[in-house]
Amino acid sequence: MTEARLACLHGNGWSIVFECPDAGPPIWRHIGERVDPAGLPALASLRGATTFSLDEPVPMAAIPLGGTGWFGPSVLAVRSQDGAALLLSDWQVEETADRLVITGADPVLGLAVTLTLASQPGGALAATTSIENRGTAPICVDALASAVLPVPAGLDRIMAWTGRHTGELAETSAPMPGHGWQRETRLGIPGHGGPCGALLLGEGAGWHAGLVLAVQLAWSGDARLAIERQEDGGHVLLAQARLLPGELRLAPGARHEAPPLLLALSQGGRGGAMAMMHAAVRARLDWPGGAMRPRPVHLNSWEACYFAHDEARIRRLAEAAAAIGVERFILDDGWFRGRNDDRAGLGDWDADPAKYPRGLAPVAAHVHGLGMEFGLWVEPEMVNPDSDLYRAHPDWVLYLPGQPRPTARHQLVLDLRRAEVRDHLFRALDRLLASVPIDYLKWDHNRALAPAGGAAQVAGTYDLLARLRAAHPAVEIESCAAGGGRIDAGIARFTHRFWTSDNIDALSRISMQRGVLAFMPPELMGAHVGVSPSHATGRVQSLAFRAAIAAQGHFGVELDPDALDDAERAALAEWIGFWKQWRHIIHGGQLHMGEAADGLLWQAHGTGDDWLLWVIRLDPARDRYPAPIRLPFAAARDWQVRLLRHAGPSAVLTPRAGAAFKAMRETPQGFTGSWLASAGLPVPGQAPESALILHLEALP
Ligand code: GLA
Repeated sequence: MTEARLACLHGNGWSIVFECPDAGPPIWRHIGERVDPAGLPALASLRGATTFSLDEPVPMAAIPLGGTGWFGPSVLAVRSQDGAALLLSDWQVEETADRLVITGADPVLGLAVTLTLASQPGGALAATTSIENRGTAPICVDALASAVLPVPAGLDRIMAWTGRHTGELAETSAPMPGHGWQRETRLGIPGHGGPCGALLLGEGAGWHAGLVLAVQLAWSGDARLAIERQEDGGHVLLAQARLLPGELRLAPGARHEAPPLLLALSQGGRGGAMAMMHAAVRARLDWPGGAMRPRPVHLNSWEACYFAHDEARIRRLAEAAAAIGVERFILDDGWFRGRNDDRAGLGDWDADPAKYPRGLAPVAAHVHGLGMEFGLWVEPEMVNPDSDLYRAHPDWVLYLPGQPRPTARHQLVLDLRRAEVRDHLFRALDRLLASVPIDYLKWDHNRALAPAGGAAQVAGTYDLLARLRAAHPAVEIESCAAGGGRIDAGIARFTHRFWTSDNIDALSRISMQRGVLAFMPPELMGAHVGVSPSHATGRVQSLAFRAAIAAQGHFGVELDPDALDDAERAALAEWIGFWKQWRHIIHGGQLHMGEAADGLLWQAHGTGDDWLLWVIRLDPARDRYPAPIRLPFAAARDWQVRLLRHAGPSAVLTPRAGAAFKAMRETPQGFTGSWLASAGLPVPGQAPESALILHLEALP
């Protein structure tokens, strides 16, 4: 028996194993749970030819390429001048403790292709493929995947998210396909289904246990995630940023890297994979000053006054915000020249002289004087045909010569592939940031791209963001796209918050937020208290319930505090105080989620010693008593549990809720970890649309 020569990468609970034959490419032998591959026989000694197949079967290479006898998906499609197929040789494998780098080169075409697999902080893995033209002629690249990987054995269900404006991140589930499954986006941005990602679940995998693979592509444009069944019964996963035909032309000497695919493989269920994803995304963030500050409480002006504002109105709103404890005030859409509704003004990034005759500096100064940071809404990639910018440069938009220019929300998309357009936008934003003391930009993108701008449009946006970040490193940026249309780990390298949805209805938000949190840590998730009835759904919810759900993310207010009655205003101020007191726990560490009997949902944010636990009831209870909530994360310690909040309509706790729960408001109740993990935390009956918030503190 021939023993295989191997190259391995081992992480926390997972392993990747390649076989490196003397001739030919490294071949995939394993990706999945941690293994010891010592003594593994060579694949060629295990697999002969079958009937009607190649006499020497071609197994899945580290960099699989079609046209070579491999009949699964290809990493790469290129066009050479003479149409020759790509054939890699000259294989090199670099193996270190936290990285595997595999390179093959085609000496005829002069193209080198490199697959890099790198461990990420917190246990996830990043996979990417780069290409380099080492030849003398340009090479046209039609498709380049970040990676084509075998799906770890034992995964049999795909969970992915879809969505629309005001209906972000709706969960879907499908079995592993008999042929193929794919999630492909073509809007020019990831869209309202969230990042190009999915969870693959093993048999019986749930929130806390079972094998789960989470994947997300760190990319803000069109993308494809595909799963195909192979002839050995296994599946192959492909993730790629989509290219427009002909758009990637690699000049001699040039190199191009596909965006990383983040992979988190855990035996700790969805929660385990989520923790790895959060760590991987956190490692990509670039905070001003090098580290996240406690997230400031926002007030965003949009739903408080939409386009109807001027200096006096905004000063009053800012004063009302400061009075309830807001720490960052964001002036949303409507402040710039000609912008009285959504029909005009995008592109002309100076203050509207009718609304702000003295410019924005006095507003910013007033906001600062009230002790708050000043944020401003912009939508730099867009232009209204009714704007001075468009009148001066009608050719600066994405358009097809001689064809109509389809508007959406009365706007067109600027062509960020062009350097002069990016330079113009940089100068306009740079001037704005230099002339007004702006601490924060809410960066919006309110339409899909038609015609498409391809990957180069996304690269143009990244380039503009990178230049602005370098020139104004203290300014934080929020990524918004008609709500949550651009939530991804690609733009997260330049931004610090995502606007989750224009739907702030707390009931709608619960599932959306769970979707976002599958990929993103809670400190990035914008979550606001809006008015009731909700502007998006018309539903009525108590202020306490709205605040309790918003408290799971980066908390903010999306209403005019002066429009509330005194009691509600005081209650909102009190919630803001509550959130400030606990935000270090909410954002500080890990997250566990679960579902309990009779429709109860729970979610715990915290660290090993300290957790804030939400218990949420959406609908009226079916059972007379709620079943205790089993908290697997609590097993290793003993705890003091205090009931901090019961948030919802007035009768949140049913009138006969046990006396112990009333006492737990004042005095923490002790429970052993084994009791909480196995027997469960007893909870009182709750009204529908309500949340309990409890504090679990570990006993020494
Ligand atoms: C988008 C955003 C909103 C608001 C408006 C302004 O819809 O999601 O929060 O900023 O644009 O036009």
